[in-house]
Amino acid sequence: MTTAPLVPGPVTVRVPAKVNLELLVGPPRDDGYHALSTVFHAVSLYDDVTVSAADTWGVDVAGPLAVGVPTDGDNLAMRAARLLGGRFDLDPVHITIRKGIPVSGGMAGGSADAAATLVALDELWDLGLDREELEELGGELGSDVPFLVAGGTAVGSGRGELLAPVLARGTYHWVFALADGGLSTPAVYAECDRLRGADVPDPVANPALMAALRSGDPHELAPQLANDLQDAALSLRPELVEVLSSGMEYGALGGIVSGSGPTCAFLVEDNESGIDLAVALTASGVVRDVRRANGPVHGAHVIHHRVD
Ligand code: C5P
Repeated sequence: MTTAPLVPGPVTVRVPAKVNLELLVGPPRDDGYHALSTVFHAVSLYDDVTVSAADTWGVDVAGPLAVGVPTDGDNLAMRAARLLGGRFDLDPVHITIRKGIPVSGGMAGGSADAAATLVALDELWDLGLDREELEELGGELGSDVPFLVAGGTAVGSGRGELLAPVLARGTYHWVFALADGGLSTPAVYAECDRLRGADVPDPVANPALMAALRSGDPHELAPQLANDLQDAALSLRPELVEVLSSGMEYGALGGIVSGSGPTCAFLVEDNESGIDLAVALTASGVVRDVRRANGPVHGAHVIHHRVD
């Protein structure tokens, strides 16, 4: 009797989305990136990324939010696989991404898939990489990737890839207003530069936000939410002004554009207020779709590993 060769995996990794509680943007650097001081916060909207050994490298994307995700070499998960594959001389894998994070929505969905792929390949091939090594590899792929490996709540500096822990208490409840179509991150940064002109100071973190996070009180956190990219996102997508004002009118404690947008993030008092706000925003017809989530949550983590 012949037996089939052992095929490692599949391994499935779940990875969260992020919202920036504070996104302070400095002047453009010589490399084209902007110096940031940001507070990342991982929230419970997830992509599931499955990797399995295959004859050729490949990626496919599934789920209702999959529209617009590239399935060629531009896919960030594929770039992560090739980076690790080249570094460790790995055999090809096929990647399947089930999207629960809005695409091009300012919630780092592509970066999340890259982070998940690094964690999944480490597990599949038993590479024994620690979190720090995974985060460092992530930094080569994109500014948000290290945070999606780490999760929780963390301060990001440099171009966002240098992380430091934050003392944060409690769980925060969020409602996310999804928009039709995405926004290009480089276009939003360029619009931010255009609107602000020259003489932009280096970003300095706001101590009041840190104090609010230590308190665990959403009422204290709400007035500290800040995003320097918001004016640029609103300039490119003026209809978001109404989304933000509707969220506040219907009971949010605070509302901001998430990252480079166009998703808008609303902080609410508790789970029940989140349901109320989600219903009101949906009924208003101002937003296409809403998602409720809470944070902080863990970064990319293995949820399934079949070992034959
Ligand atoms: O690092 P990542 O590839 O995710 O960045 C996408 C784009 O966002 C960059 O090409 C750049 O235009 C912009 N960006 C920036 N400054 C940062 C992070 C991103 O200008 N700190």
